[in-house]
Amino acid sequence: MDPKAKKTALRGITYGLYLIGTKDESGVNAFAGNFLTQTSFEPPFVTLAAKAGTRSQKQIASSGVFSVNLLESGQKDMVTAFFRPLEVDGDMLAGYAFTTEETGCPIFKDALSFFECKVIDRLEIGDHFIYVGEVINAGVHREGDPLTMKETGFYYGG
Ligand SMILES: Cc1cc2nc3c(=O)[nH]c(=O)nc-3n(C[C@H](O)[C@H](O)[C@H](O)COP(=O)(O)O)c2cc1C
Repeated sequence: MDPKAKKTALRGITYGLYLIGTKDESGVNAFAGNFLTQTSFEPPFVTLAAKAGTRSQKQIASSGVFSVNLLESGQKDMVTAFFRPLEVDGDMLAGYAFTTEETGCPIFKDALSFFECKVIDRLEIGDHFIYVGEVINAGVHREGDPLTMKETGFYYGG
């Protein structure tokens, strides 16, 4: 295989960029991720890949839940704050307020909308582990155009 062609072709996959909320007995966390897609209408399933060995991946593996916060076009600064390990400060992560609902994972008020998932299957192979989540709760804060990877100029893939 030509590695350059592989990189170029894989970078042709279009993505959004989301805030994924996680939790375990040590507390809540959130990270910015793009490896996410819906994979079933009924039941509603999404599939997420979480970087193996990160706090977030370990939290999803142990709690069996995660949340997905859909950001608005223009929220590049917000998403950028979630590329690194964080400490929770009251009801804030990286300076952004969150609440919790069904799963206990962070739901950011500044996002457009959110959904929460219960992990129903997993494939822990590769450098990112794959979690299939059943959507068990969802909410809309406001209408708007979604943030895309293209808009941010970031790449994660290839
Ligand atoms: C543009 C971009 C996209 C990313 N997408 C993912 C992703 O889909 N899955 C993932 O696990 N990490 C992804 N990351 C890396 C995480 O944001 C980063 O490892 C974060 O530190 C993980 O949080 P934690 O260390 O608190 O667990 C991405 C990073 C960037 C810059």
